Amino acid sequence: MGSRYLWPWLLVLLGLAPVGAQQKPVNMLCSPDLAWCEALVPAFKQATGLDLRFVRLSSGEALARLRAEAQRPQFDVWFGGTGDPHMIAFREGLTEFYKPRSWNQLRPELRAAVGETYIPLYMGAIGFVVNHQVLERRGLPEPKRWTDLADDRYRRLLAMPDPNTSGTGYTILATLVQLYGEDRAFQLLSRIHRNVAQYTRSGAAPGQLAGRGDVAIAVQFAHDGVKFALEGYPLKVLFPLEGTGYEIGGLSLVKGAPNREGAIRFIEWALTPEVQALAAKVGSFQIPSHTKTPVPPQAPRPANLIRYDFNTFGTPEVRERLLNRFNKEILPLPR
Ligand code: F6P
Repeated sequence: MGSRYLWPWLLVLLGLAPVGAQQKPVNMLCSPDLAWCEALVPAFKQATGLDLRFVRLSSGEALARLRAEAQRPQFDVWFGGTGDPHMIAFREGLTEFYKPRSWNQLRPELRAAVGETYIPLYMGAIGFVVNHQVLERRGLPEPKRWTDLADDRYRRLLAMPDPNTSGTGYTILATLVQLYGEDRAFQLLSRIHRNVAQYTRSGAAPGQLAGRGDVAIAVQFAHDGVKFALEGYPLKVLFPLEGTGYEIGGLSLVKGAPNREGAIRFIEWALTPEVQALAAKVGSFQIPSHTKTPVPPQAPRPANLIRYDFNTFGTPEVRERLLNRFNKEILPLPR
């Protein structure tokens, strides 16, 4: 062995090597807003000395990635994204349930809703994010109900996320099925479809289209609409009168993670109130899962949440069936 190879070992033996130098980085699949993912990197390094690397993917895409890598996992932890795909990943053996030390300090209603399948990270509800200037200019009323979205007057004035790639899109689909029953929900979706100018890959993108005035109404998580409104776009957040669905955003340990130990350090750290509070500082206004993390004053609080059935809609077969119907019965229809 040449001296070039001996040097690093000598430094370690002498205790002179930096602490993190011999430790593997933690690889994270990250599904919330990019700014939140980015903010975690330096904060984790500072707290632990460990490097955090991430790829940002929408929830449905993240699930597809975990499935593709099932035989040889590349990621250690999946941070954020809607809960249904986290539950599906657990049920397919792609993630394992890890009970963090702070488990009993997480909101009990969120823990109860998802059982021991994944760790609740935050909560947020679906809303209508409307550009009031576009509506006013066209002399159109604000939509009040889900059924209003099918009104002919909103022709090509709607944007919503694609449920195949976006967890938000799947939450919207599951919400309509729970409100109306499956067949009536698909009938309604076929009428709403005529008004959709664009199905987006990610859940937040419809609000950007509405903010710019490309469409008048975005269907998406209300907290994403609040973020864009606070950035100065002429947007207003409304909740449908029939009731609305919500997410329990997830945090999961990848099964067979190459750096399991690092992933667990990340999970424990990410659930602390100080770290959860980072989200609001970078414009993510969900309701945090830890009871001691302050709820950001900007977080929207809808009064009429439905009793979202996480157990059913987090089942692989149910998701597959609903997406197949959506892809066969809705997407090919003319607009
Ligand atoms: O932008 C943040 C957020 O709305 C999260 O609350 C949610 O879990 C995630 O995006 C869903 O993103 P997507 O719909 O792209 O999967």
